[in-house]
Amino acid sequence: MQKEDSNFLKACRLESVNQIPVWFMRQAGRYDADYRAIRQKYTLVEICEHPEVCADVTRMPVQKLGVDAAILFSDIMIPIGAMGLPFEIRENVGPIIASPVRTREDVDRLTVFHPRTSLPHVLETIELLTSDLRVPLIGFTGAPFTLASYMIEGGPSREYARTKQMMYESPAVWGALMDKLAKMIVSYGQAQVQSGASALQLFDSWVGSLSPEDYATYVFPTMSYIFENLRSLKVPLIYFGVTTGELLSQFRSAGATVIGVDWRVPLPTARLRVGHDVALQGNLDPALLHAPWPVLENQIRRILDAGMEYPGYTFNLGHGVRPSVDVNVLRRVTEFVHEYSARHFQSSQVMSSSAKDGVIS
Ligand code: CP3
Repeated sequence: MQKEDSNFLKACRLESVNQIPVWFMRQAGRYDADYRAIRQKYTLVEICEHPEVCADVTRMPVQKLGVDAAILFSDIMIPIGAMGLPFEIRENVGPIIASPVRTREDVDRLTVFHPRTSLPHVLETIELLTSDLRVPLIGFTGAPFTLASYMIEGGPSREYARTKQMMYESPAVWGALMDKLAKMIVSYGQAQVQSGASALQLFDSWVGSLSPEDYATYVFPTMSYIFENLRSLKVPLIYFGVTTGELLSQFRSAGATVIGVDWRVPLPTARLRVGHDVALQGNLDPALLHAPWPVLENQIRRILDAGMEYPGYTFNLGHGVRPSVDVNVLRRVTEFVHEYSARHFQSSQVMSSSAKDGVIS
């Protein structure tokens, strides 16, 4: 089967599928013993610098879980290092930046790099993967607000106080930072697709901390620019953030073609907000992966019943897989989504052909 005909890419293009495609955000990671063993030998950044190892880590969830798409193993911070801002990923904390971006000079010092020269290993990994993966590969980048939040705060944050302070107090500096990140994201996204990625996901994990008005003023123009410039690549452009229920209509008008929904927004509500000409992806609460199976199954059914109402739906979590999840649960969820949705599509086909034959009037 050609990757173009895969259920994942069909769902992203709003075409009909014979079963609902599944992948999990953070599907490669610490819940998996083989990943932990590789991490004994390499840091996360070192994995990314070794294309063979990085490709193996990317393939693991496809082989073990039977998911319908692979996501490049990398981190949203990798291109930030290439912009000349050193970072460290601290276990159970997240990205740490020793010299955060606070002034116009700090922004001006960031370099707009050429992915081929500065991140050749990322593109080599993609090339390795696309030659032998049987499922589409999703490339990704962080989105400007979320990247800026790490760059300005110097690490993870709850309030994003300094980030918002720069936004409100120095809009010109904020604008210059958004512009630089947007240019980086466009060229990095283009390079990933040119190397073989079949879709791109933009992670704006923390943008839900903004009000809809502030999103419209301080972020929307940058996101529109990015989607406008990535559109000609003709691959699905997935846009995701946490607690972004009130921003979903703007996600759509910015130009995303697939909207990632977190678990706080029921899919029918998300549909009302984004309309029917974009695809949806989501939205199981990752905490449910620890629930007893009947509870979990019930919630998956509820999500699938809503998701399958319209073409253009991919099953995923509402945020990333946690390190404590049991790999067998992920496998069982994947199988259940496939089987349940395949039965649904088979019976609706029988219904419509019987109706045509006059069996059901
Ligand atoms: O399988 C995949 O999804 C691909 C790999 C991937 C990683 N990071 C690897 C990783 C992806 C898509 C990301 C994106 C990412 N990184 C986001 C957006 C998605 C989200 O979860 O909201 C964000 C905000 C980051 C920044 C970051 N990097 C965080 C918050 C952490 C976790 C820190 C911790 O220890 O809990 C990281 C580290 C990281 N990136 C890990 C992995 C597998 C875990 C640490 C490790 O293995 O060393």
